[in-house]
Amino acid sequence: MNDLLPEKSRVWRNLEKKIATVFSNYGFDEIRTPILERTELFLRGLGEVTDIVEKEMYSFEDRLNGKTYSLRPENTAAVVRASVQHSLTYNEPRKLWYYGPMFRHERPQAGRYRQFFQFGVEMLGYDSFESEVELILMCNAVWRSIGLDGNLQPELKLNSIGTSEERSSYVQALGEFFQKHIGILDDDNLKRLKRNPLRILDSKSDSLVNLKNEAPKITDFLGNVSKAHFENLLSVLDDHRISYEVDLKLVRGLDYYNSTVFEWKVSGLGAQDTVCGGGRYDALVALLGGAHTGACGFAIGMERLVELFEANSREQEKTLIDLYFAHTGRDGKLIAIKLAEKVRKAGISVKVDLTDASLKTQVKRAFRNNAEFLAIFGEEEIKTGNVSVRWLIREEGENHQRKVPYAEMVEFVRKIKNKSGNGSQ
Ligand code: HAM
Repeated sequence: MNDLLPEKSRVWRNLEKKIATVFSNYGFDEIRTPILERTELFLRGLGEVTDIVEKEMYSFEDRLNGKTYSLRPENTAAVVRASVQHSLTYNEPRKLWYYGPMFRHERPQAGRYRQFFQFGVEMLGYDSFESEVELILMCNAVWRSIGLDGNLQPELKLNSIGTSEERSSYVQALGEFFQKHIGILDDDNLKRLKRNPLRILDSKSDSLVNLKNEAPKITDFLGNVSKAHFENLLSVLDDHRISYEVDLKLVRGLDYYNSTVFEWKVSGLGAQDTVCGGGRYDALVALLGGAHTGACGFAIGMERLVELFEANSREQEKTLIDLYFAHTGRDGKLIAIKLAEKVRKAGISVKVDLTDASLKTQVKRAFRNNAEFLAIFGEEEIKTGNVSVRWLIREEGENHQRKVPYAEMVEFVRKIKNKSGNGSQ
């Protein structure tokens, strides 16, 4: 679990704003659900034979009521629970997004955390392939919004895992195939073979690469409706010039999926190279007590996205605050505090140095804080009612420093900021 110190939080906040803006541009509404849910929601929703449910949930019994709760390991099940509970799709289908921390007790390694953040989207009440097109376009828009376009763009992998009946026949065939090669399977995969052979395709084990390539392919088990759905999706993606790769071994690690599944992968993040995963889950709403409702969605892992962004960012460090107020003496400090209130009301940010450090130290801090201007309230300034203002960012020769009457401070900062096209109003 990570502490996000101020410098990191700044980057996060920047990306969070951009991603939330993309989602609302697509007409999606935000939903916030609790971080704790009843454990049985995840047992039913995600499937009992999944890594998450078998070994990664933080669950506890509430001594006060004897019920068992879990920190949410993902949010699709909770959003569906909330949708059923509040009849969200009663009048019309819903397009929802969420953001927040998820918890999985995973083996600690780079890119895999026990608390991590996801931005996610769920479309409830949507059956057609066009909804998956929209999901993929939205992901694309997210990458673009944070400058991960061109060759920095994550790569899209897609597959169709068919209806639950089609998948059952496939799983049976896979089971029979791996049973014939039981000698090659390690302990983990032997367990998977017994409980859910599909998960063997998920295995990262190098020794299984060839075997997995020879295994039966899902395509041979898809009916015409599933095939047409997937082909229609691919043809619209072609139309939008979105590049993708069909990956027949892509099965995803949660049981609720059917039909289209997809992941966005990147190079340079090591083994944890998936920044986003999603797909269709048409049976989940009914499984959790609602009417049959076609649905699909995705979730983006924030830690991995931030890492990718930082490795490739071309964004310049921006000014963090408009003004830094330094002072000498007690009177200077009090005047600074008073004037700062006025200036802030005009939407200009001010950080007042409240310490009694030397002026030299305060000036250094103004630079370190990336302030755009420094204003000094010294004895001379108090006497004359003028404050001396310095530009810290732009070097503009003669305009480098100026005396400004207290009463004109707001107007002055506004004018200069508007001129530089950087006004906070
Ligand atoms: P997921 O593939 O389990 O899907 O997670 C989605 C993304 O969350 C991953 O691609 C990864 O970027 C990030 N992530 C997952 N686990 C960790 C971790 N331990 N540390 C850091 N990042 C992690 C889901 O959670 C589904 N609910 C997605 C979905 C929404 N499907 C339909 N709707």
